[in-house]
Amino acid sequence: MVDGTGMCGACRITVDGRTRFVCVDGPEFDAHKVDFDEMLMRLRAYN
Ligand code: FES
Repeated sequence: MVDGTGMCGACRITVDGRTRFVCVDGPEFDAHKVDFDEMLMRLRAYN
C-alpha cells in the first residue's frame, strides 16, 4: 500500500471480477474469489 486512501491504485486487486482496493475495501476478502494470478503479476511489475 502507498497512500491507504484508495487514490493511488497500488493495492488494486480483482475479486469476483470486480476491481477492489485492499486499503478501503478490505483487507478481508473471500480468497476463493481473488484473482491471485493477476495480483502476483502486478506485484512483480517493478522487480
Ligand atoms: S494503497 Fe493506494 S489505493 Fe490502496
